[in-house]
Order: sequence, then C-alpha cells, then structure tokens
Amino acid sequence: MRVAIATGGGDAPGLNAVIRAVVLSAYYRGWKCYGIQRGYEGLLSFNGVVPLGPPEVRGITHLGGTILGTTNRGNPFRYVMRRESGEEYELDRSDDLVAAFRASGFDAMISIGGDGSLQISHDLWRKGLPIVGVPKTIDNDVSGTQRTFGFDSAVATATEAIDKLHSTAESHDRVMVVELMGRYAGWITLYSGLSGSADVILLPEIPFDIEKVCDKIRSREAAGRHFSIVVVAEGARPRDGTVELVERRGVGTVDRLGGIASKVARTIEHHTGKETRTLVLGHLQRGGSPTTYDRLLALRFGTAAVRAIADGAFGTMVGLNGPDITRVPLEQVVGRAKNVPLDSDTIRTARDLGISLGD
Ligand code: F6P
Repeated sequence: MRVAIATGGGDAPGLNAVIRAVVLSAYYRGWKCYGIQRGYEGLLSFNGVVPLGPPEVRGITHLGGTILGTTNRGNPFRYVMRRESGEEYELDRSDDLVAAFRASGFDAMISIGGDGSLQISHDLWRKGLPIVGVPKTIDNDVSGTQRTFGFDSAVATATEAIDKLHSTAESHDRVMVVELMGRYAGWITLYSGLSGSADVILLPEIPFDIEKVCDKIRSREAAGRHFSIVVVAEGARPRDGTVELVERRGVGTVDRLGGIASKVARTIEHHTGKETRTLVLGHLQRGGSPTTYDRLLALRFGTAAVRAIADGAFGTMVGLNGPDITRVPLEQVVGRAKNVPLDSDTIRTARDLGISLGD
C-alpha cells in the first residue's frame, strides 16, 4: 500500500499529530507513506512528494502547524493560474491531480482539512480517487463530527487572552471588545467567552441588537462593575446589518472576515460614554502546541483513517461521534455547516449566568 497524505486550508494545532499517527500506523502494517507538500500543490505545481517514515515524524505530536505546509488557494477544481500580465484566473485542474496521483503509484489518499478541503475530497472521490478525510479546523464547523481537532487549542488560547484582558479592563474601567475567529460559526467565541467570564457574547448564530449590548454594560455600571468584556465572533452581525469583511472573495479563495470588533466598540463608546478598546486575536488562535485533547483526537483520527483505508472505506471522513471514532460518508458532510444549536445546553448556560447574547 502506498498512502499519500495532504494537509489543506488553514493550519490548526494537531495537524502534525495526525500525520504522525497515519505514518506510524501505516508503517506497522508494512505500508509506505508519502507527504504531498503545500496542499495539492506538491502534485500540481512542483515535485513536492516526500517519503514519510518513523524518522520523519519523530517528536512532532506536540508541534503546531504542519510539516507538509498548506495553502488555502490550492483547490484543484479552482486552481489559481497567472497570465503573463499578472492577472489571476481559475482553472479546473482536477484531472491533472488524479493523473499525478496515479502516476505516483499511490493506492490511497488521506486528506486532512476543513469544510473546503473536505468538499474537494468529496469531489475527487467522485472522480475515482480513493480518499479518506480527516476533519481539521479551529472553527469546529464541520458536520459529521462532534469535534474537529484544533478547536480545543484555539479555545484555550482565546480563554487565556480573555482572562488577561480582565486586568486592563478592570484597572482602567474600560470596555474591551475581543474579536475571535470561527468564520460563520460561534463555537470558539461561545466556549471561550463562557470560560473566560465575558459579560457579552456575540455569535453569528444570534444577530445582535447593539442597544441590548449597551444595556448590559450600563446595568453593570449601575451595579458598580465599571468594566465589561465583550467577545464577538468575526462572523457575527447586527440584526439590521451584514457580516464585516476585510477582503471580498478573490480568485481561488474565500472571503476574509474581520472588522466587527471595531464597529461594535465604536458604537458602545458612542452610546455609553465608556472608554472602549478592541483586540483582534487573529492567527494566535491557530498557533502553538495542541492541547492534550487535540493531540489525542488527532492521533485517534489519524489511526482511524488508516483503518478506513485497510477496510476500503473510501469516500468517508472519520469523525468523533459519542465516545467513538466513526466513518461518515463525505456526501453527508459537505455543504452542511455545523453551527451552535440555539437550544443547546451551552447557550442556556450562558443565559443562566446572566451573560448577554445581544438579543
Ligand atoms: O478556518 C480557520 C480560520 O482561521 C477562520 O477562523 C478564519 O476566518 C480564517 O481561517 C482565516 O484565514 P486566513 O489565514 O486565510 O486569513
């Protein structure tokens, strides 16, 4: 068996643990593993196929990032090409990818990625590529699994940041507005906002009324609490507004979200008269060593993906469902973002703790 591994989309803590798990469990079966560098670019644009054995994956479980490199502009169905004039355009190079896969003599592909990469995996599987997906993203927005690896580490980083912001907020009687990642899902913001004792949590799932946010800050003020912490997901939007974008969709990539914190902060300062500052935590949420939870989940996913190959269960994704790692058909995963359910216990916990969700 010759197994190729690719990591696509944004990096997330735990990617290297998956790679190690795949390589070692393949090795002990007598199989060979190969890493495709920079998403699929190592097959499409340059000779980026590297053999992976035990020496190559030694001591990487705790390392952030991916030893293979990644890109979020490497969709083979919408590959970014450049004319001589410098102008960029998209080209479907999926046939080239399948041909390169076959020419390399691979028997199976393990693709580690988020919703975008899993959609690509699904489409490649429909073209005949024997592929198994592994769900990765700090956003935790992939269906078919209760958790993606990377999420727990991002929440830990965000919670620590919120904890630290309390010092300045309280010492200076300020409102601090923290913008967190997650695209159109509020998992990171809800979990870290709750754990970090935020006073207001604004999620994409609950369009907010800024007056309700200001009411919460005023009522804290009246109760002698002269500071407040507001956490806002990058994909959150006011009831009468739209999601803030840093950059519109470009060739071969997706919209970049961002800017809601400064908008919220300006309005809070204007309506309440409280000095208000912002923090955009950004890529710190993707960095650093994976938590114990993410390491273990990543190792379980990696070995489960190899077992799926052994059983010929192609066109599936491994996922955490209940206490077990299960196989979910990719067609049941793609095109269905997993959002925070509004009737979830965690949302109720926030409300029962007196946290404002802006509604
Ligand atoms: O999907 C992971 C993620 O970090 C999102 O939370 C965020 O919106 C996006 O990637 C940022 O992507 P980039 O690194 O390309 O700006």
